[in-house]
Amino acid sequence: MTFSKLLLSSAIVLLSMHGVAHAQGDPKRGEKLFEDCRACHSVERGVNGVGPSLHGVFGRRAAERDDFRYSPALKRSGITWTPQTMDAFAADPQKTVPANRMPYAGMPDARDRADLIMYMQQVFK
Ligand code: HEC
Repeated sequence: MTFSKLLLSSAIVLLSMHGVAHAQGDPKRGEKLFEDCRACHSVERGVNGVGPSLHGVFGRRAAERDDFRYSPALKRSGITWTPQTMDAFAADPQKTVPANRMPYAGMPDARDRADLIMYMQQVFK
């Protein structure tokens, strides 16, 4: 193998590794993006702010904590929080659950959301 071919193939390996990291989300970036949410959502169990604690949120039904007053809209939503439903909600909360009371406009970039949700899965599992 010539040197340039070697370079080319290692570049391809690096590129494809980068692609994998993308698909799974980057939790380091996600931690910074979570600053958007942290103003209202604590990472600690049972600590509610403007929004409910998100501790253990994945696998739980929406509006299920009895120590937080949720909107009727979120209670009726029938959502179970998975990476997929979290992605839709974070992208556009009002479109996903009309009339919910979360005052957040949404995170439009799909890659940002993938990183955010990867972080959330690590912190809130
Ligand atoms: C300005 C405050 C605020 C910000 C910022 C905010 N939220 Fe919320 N969040 C709320 C409130 C209030 C509720 C309850 C909404 C309701 O009852 O309709 C909520 C509810 C939620 C729920 C439902 C929790 C449950 O127990 O069912 C999730 C999930 C959520 N927020 C995720 C996020 C994420 C992710 C971000 C950042 C991208 C974010 N929120 C940013 C205030 C906020």
